[in-house]
Amino acid sequence: MLTMPQRWRQRGRVVVLLASASVALAWTLQALFAPTVSQAAAAAATADANAPSPAESAASAPRHRPLRTHVEPAAPNPTEPLVFEGYRDAPPFEVVPRKQHLTLYPCSTCHKVLPLNTTPRKLVAAPHVADLPHGKGRMWCLTCHQGNDRDHLVSLRGQKIDFDRADQQCGQCHGDRHRDWHFGGHGKRAEGWRGERQLYSCTHCHDPHNPVLQPRAPGPPPPLRAGLLAHPVLPHATPPAEKKP
Ligand code: HEC
Ligand code: HEC
Ligand code: HEC
Ligand code: HEC
Repeated sequence: MLTMPQRWRQRGRVVVLLASASVALAWTLQALFAPTVSQAAAAAATADANAPSPAESAASAPRHRPLRTHVEPAAPNPTEPLVFEGYRDAPPFEVVPRKQHLTLYPCSTCHKVLPLNTTPRKLVAAPHVADLPHGKGRMWCLTCHQGNDRDHLVSLRGQKIDFDRADQQCGQCHGDRHRDWHFGGHGKRAEGWRGERQLYSCTHCHDPHNPVLQPRAPGPPPPLRAGLLAHPVLPHATPPAEKKP
């Protein structure tokens, strides 16, 4: 049997032993995890420095994207409209139709029996255009004409375009002229400036196969009013700066 003082002494030893063991364990743990802990602390500190204060983010939330935290903006909708539907702020208009001016339309009268030949080549047997100066060799007929349905034009993405809306096709490559045309800065209107707008299509003026307009000779002068004498035609005076030595 142990006396009370003996028991206390024994308990005291156990307590000392446990205490020293836990100190040793703490040292080991600190040695093991010290770098990680300090890195985490540093990271937390940087994050804190960059994060806007709650008041700041509340004030800027509706107006600005928080640049400090670098939040990626919401991804734009990946589905673009497949057909160009015009400029939102352009006044509505109609395009003067073209089909009735085409001598060979409908093309399917011949092409429904002719096999499709996609090889770019010089057409020899065709009763229509064979030469293509447009684009200087960078495109061929089937860039613009639908191969399997010859009664339609085709977009660069393969959608059908009506012959009456050739402007949609030209607009794919000549976007600046197409935009000007929408707003009235290029081309011509068939109707007045008020009410319904009617625009001439690009192909009213440009031959799609050879689109550059040739310079035109000036028209004759207006006839003289009765009783007036024709002014003698004088040679233009050459300005001194342009005089040839
Ligand atoms: C009177 C008959 C006839 C009509 C109408 C006609 N074509 Fe053709 N087309 C031909 C022939 C024939 C060829 C083949 C010429 C060759 O291989 O040399 C051809 C070839 C073509 C080609 C070359 C590609 C291929 O498949 O050979 C295109 C593009 C084309 N035609 C477009 C048209 C379009 C657009 C129209 C309507 C506006 C049209 N054609 C109307 C007879 C016709
Ligand atoms: C830049 C696009 C483009 C290219 C390339 C092109 N065409 Fe056209 N083609 C058109 C458009 C647009 C029209 C409609 C013309 C109009 O409205 O007057 C047309 C009209 C035609 C017509 C009908 C003409 C008429 O008066 O009946 C024929 C035939 C034709 N194309 C054949 C061809 C052939 C063959 C080629 C290749 C050598 C070719 N096209 C290349 C855009 C093109
Ligand atoms: C697939 C693209 C494409 C389409 C569609 C297209 N073009 Fe072109 N166009 C060109 C290229 C390429 C040139 C040559 C530009 C150059 O020489 O630098 C050109 C040249 C022209 C030119 C002469 C410009 C110059 O600087 O010489 C005119 C006018 C023109 N196109 C009108 C039209 C019209 C009208 C249509 C619709 C029927 C049309 N284009 C459709 C690509 C296209
Ligand atoms: C009322 C006639 C008319 C209409 C409609 C028209 N144009 Fe033009 N376009 C012209 C004239 C005229 C020029 C200047 C002469 C030239 O350079 O060929 C021109 C010039 C251009 C040129 C530049 C040519 C160059 O040499 O720099 C392009 C490209 C062109 N037009 C494309 C279009 C397109 C695309 C459309 C339809 C959206 C269109 N045009 C409608 C008359 C017209």
